[in-house]
Amino acid sequence: MSNRVIAIDGPAGSGKSTTARLVADKLGFVYLDTGAMYRSVTLMALRHGVPLSDGDALTKLAERINIEFRHEDGIQKTFVDGEDVTDAIRTPEVTAAVSEVSAHAGVRAVLVKRQQEYAEKSNLVTEGRDTTSVVFPDAFLKIYLVADVSERAKRRVKDFEKLDRNTTLEEQIADIERRDSFDSSRSASPLTRTADSIELDTTHLTIDGQAEKVIELYRKKLEESGE
Ligand code: DC
Repeated sequence: MSNRVIAIDGPAGSGKSTTARLVADKLGFVYLDTGAMYRSVTLMALRHGVPLSDGDALTKLAERINIEFRHEDGIQKTFVDGEDVTDAIRTPEVTAAVSEVSAHAGVRAVLVKRQQEYAEKSNLVTEGRDTTSVVFPDAFLKIYLVADVSERAKRRVKDFEKLDRNTTLEEQIADIERRDSFDSSRSASPLTRTADSIELDTTHLTIDGQAEKVIELYRKKLEESGE
């Protein structure tokens, strides 16, 4: 039997990463954060002064760097070429630049291939923008998360507070709207809800509630498939 993949897509701040992480913990699956991979390439591009419009240079950079996820003290951390970049990839500077980097087809091809390799090794809960459509079109369960923009902006403000970065609700609403429109309208693998994805609105759900709902859908799918 091949490994099972639960793929979760949705716009920025819809609750994908918290949900995916918790579901993976509860089911004993590996959590694959595809956004962290695009953020890692963006961080290195900013550090090395690679122009965000230069698709060829960014693709070469993506090919060159080694991105790894490791568990330390129960927390999943992201490493680039051995350096812990877990916090560095969440700054407003990286967040503001990542949509442009992730719009390049060459960068996507490199990262999608690496994402698919993870499923050869373990059961996965993964999340991003194209995990249900391009990366894992045959995923066992596909979820599309949505939430009101003001709720999503509130969540982002809290995330930044944890990093000691001050930002306002208005700034976050503007950034989320800009990213939503960019991620949905780009030509390379735009954010889309596939016909076989189950939509889940997280606006009024707690984190535990979101995870429980996904696990419930997973169990239902298991029953239906007779596995
Ligand atoms: O989920 P996130 O905020 O960490 O994602 C960062 C950016 O990466 C987001 O603006 C769009 C891009 N992304 C993507 O294009 N495809 C994915 N599978 C995941 C993220």
